[in-house]
Amino acid sequence: MKTVGLIGCGAIGTVLAEAIERKLVVCDELVVFDVDKAKAEQLKAALKFPVTIVDSFEELLKRNPSVIVEAASQQAVKEYAPKIAAEGIELIVLSTGALLDLDVDLSRVYVPSGAIGGLDAISNAALVGVNEVVLASRKNPRAFEKNNRQPEVVYEGTAEEAARQFPRAMNVAATLALTVKPARVKVQVISDPNVERNTHEITLKWKFGEMFLRFANDPHPDNPHTSALAAWSAIKLLQELLCA
Ligand SMILES: NC(=O)c1ccc[n+]([C@@H]2O[C@H](COP(=O)([O-])OP(=O)(O)OC[C@H]3O[C@@H](n4cnc5c(N)ncnc54)[C@H](O)[C@@H]3O)[C@@H](O)[C@H]2O)c1
Repeated sequence: MKTVGLIGCGAIGTVLAEAIERKLVVCDELVVFDVDKAKAEQLKAALKFPVTIVDSFEELLKRNPSVIVEAASQQAVKEYAPKIAAEGIELIVLSTGALLDLDVDLSRVYVPSGAIGGLDAISNAALVGVNEVVLASRKNPRAFEKNNRQPEVVYEGTAEEAARQFPRAMNVAATLALTVKPARVKVQVISDPNVERNTHEITLKWKFGEMFLRFANDPHPDNPHTSALAAWSAIKLLQELLCA
């Protein structure tokens, strides 16, 4: 019996549940928990696949899922990841910013590529050592609840601080930081009226070459910070873990 646990029934959780319904991920049951029960009920109502809603995180653990997917918040990861690790359950984390300063056994914690990619090549280079890595993230001012008419740098600094200051928007910076460590990622966040898509550009220099990767992702209609690519990266990883 393969049970998938899902924490967070928002934009990403819903895409993931729909992928299970379409049998892109093969499991027997989906158990969901959301602090906002209405979100869990909305997700269940949209599916024919068997979904069990639980009222607490503890109840989710008692269901003994094969894998838990966190698609909630950095706070949720800080609160639940140590307990999930203690149970030896595999955990896919989307709110990766929380992992930067969390003292938890990461051996069964999996980080999907999220709203970016190319992390295979980047982590290969990181084995040798990365000289410089810069992430420039552009989003429409709507995502920052701003209305600037010219591009405006709203943040410049480290990935760790970016993930702290923008806990919903800059988990990509944390994912990159986890991939290149101990190298440090320089981050620029730009509120740009010229872009409709959430655009992430990674420039990397290492001993044997350079890389430039660019991702332009449609914002999710329910949550302008989130892109479908992030949800699909978790679905792909879940597929792999359940087949292993
Ligand atoms: N790694 C990446 O590249 C990447 C990309 C996009 C989004 N994300 C992150 O993934 C997470 C989910 O994104 P989303 O767009 O689905 O968000 P969302 O806001 O649409 O949905 C989050 C859901 O989680 C629930 N929730 C929040 N805290 C909770 C808690 N402690 N326990 C249980 N439920 C809780 C909320 O009620 C909400 O329904 C966010 O933290 C987001 O920043 C990461």
